[in-house]
Amino acid sequence: MLPCEESNGGIFTWAGTDPDQPPSWALPNLFPTATPALRFNRIEIGTHPQEILENNVDTAHLYPLHGFPECAVPEGPASDGHVFTVSLRVTRTVPPFGAVSGDTTISLYGLGLMHLVVTAPGQQWQIDVVASTRPVAPWRTELLLGVAMNIDATKGPLSWVPRQAMTVLAAALTRLNLVAVLKIMDQDIPVWETKRYTSPPRLGHSDGPIGPYRKWAQQFYPTTPNRREPTEQG
Ligand SMILES: [Fe+2]
Repeated sequence: MLPCEESNGGIFTWAGTDPDQPPSWALPNLFPTATPALRFNRIEIGTHPQEILENNVDTAHLYPLHGFPECAVPEGPASDGHVFTVSLRVTRTVPPFGAVSGDTTISLYGLGLMHLVVTAPGQQWQIDVVASTRPVAPWRTELLLGVAMNIDATKGPLSWVPRQAMTVLAAALTRLNLVAVLKIMDQDIPVWETKRYTSPPRLGHSDGPIGPYRKWAQQFYPTTPNRREPTEQG
């Protein structure tokens, strides 16, 4: 039986470089104070978990595929053992506010758990996206997506809104933003499912920090010669 751990409301199994050995690290509690009211969706995609998570560092595709007019990498990426973090400044559509220039912080914990946080200067909301990947067959991955939009109504112009009404509003906005995230996934899926494997990949400077990400991800594979690298030109 594979080592397993209950964490963040789910059960995670470890099939790392040596399945007989548990991992040397534990998943973090992403929400130590209060768990946001996440809404979930589950989709199955014909690709590898590493490809899905690479989406976060493939900054060159954000405009042509998703229409994000602005994307910069003001910080990072940084890696510390099994943790990889990158910060992006992205202009994206945030329902119901339209195009918003905000900060996105992405943290990866191995290739099975991602936590993405979107904030915007001067705004009282925060969007949390949690994603977990589960390989279900060779080159088929189940992706569990959780999205929550939280509003800080303790101050500012929203402070007069009754707490119950704010909870209802946050739930409605969470549903809208889950739909927005799924729409982005719908744009990615045909690319993921038709990408062609090439080794070595031909990466340019405009492709973003894909190289550091792939180098970090190597630690999660056995060092068996001639294995199939799950990296392709993005
Ligand atoms: Fe994408």
